[in-house]
Amino acid sequence: MEIRETRAVDRTKLLALYPKAFPEEDLTAVVAALLDREDVLSLTAVAGDPIGHVAFTRCGPDRSGALLGPLAVSPDNQAAGIGTALVRAGFDRLTEGGVHQVFVLGDPSYYQRFGFEAEHSVEPPYALPAEWDGAWQSVSLAGRAPLPAGPLSLPAPWMDRSLWAP
Ligand SMILES: CC(C)(COP(=O)(O)OP(=O)(O)OC[C@H]1O[C@@H](n2cnc3c(N)ncnc32)[C@H](O)[C@@H]1OP(=O)(O)O)[C@@H](O)C(=O)NCCC(=O)NCCS
Repeated sequence: MEIRETRAVDRTKLLALYPKAFPEEDLTAVVAALLDREDVLSLTAVAGDPIGHVAFTRCGPDRSGALLGPLAVSPDNQAAGIGTALVRAGFDRLTEGGVHQVFVLGDPSYYQRFGFEAEHSVEPPYALPAEWDGAWQSVSLAGRAPLPAGPLSLPAPWMDRSLWAP
């Protein structure tokens, strides 16, 4: 298994991987939009074919933050460390690129292994439902200063309200 930056040749297979990893959510539009952007770090795990993917969208002042998501590993390859390896490879590249803080909306029981903690200062673009308490999280990279408090500015693909609601 190799983790590398996503290539144009991966696109069709990645767009087919997401409905398998997320059978109850349609992430095709946001993934397709993120794959086209230069402000997105997109990494693919490859073992012959793509078997996992993560995107990090640069955001905030001077693009010093990044939003992690989505993250998907094909069902046949889950629980083998691939998701963890994708996130850690992303952190290494983002740190080199000057990113201070990474945000995620996700299950704390998964993301706490990377040092993510509930974020109360920087806000997501839309208010989240009460049942998602604790799901909005962040981690500071390499002990660098956090982003200023307030709503996080994100590019257009993330301003679809349905991405921030059950
Ligand atoms: C979540 C996901 C990206 C993790 O990738 P992975 O390669 O399977 O996970 P890893 O091998 O790195 O880590 C395995 C650990 O994650 C846990 N885990 C897997 N899916 C999880 C989930 N949806 N929620 C919480 N924990 C999860 C496993 O229980 C295991 O825990 P352990 O290390 O304490 O035993 C992958 O399982 C996936 O694509 N799931 C479906 C899509 C999804 O839910 N993505 C969003 C994540 S919020």
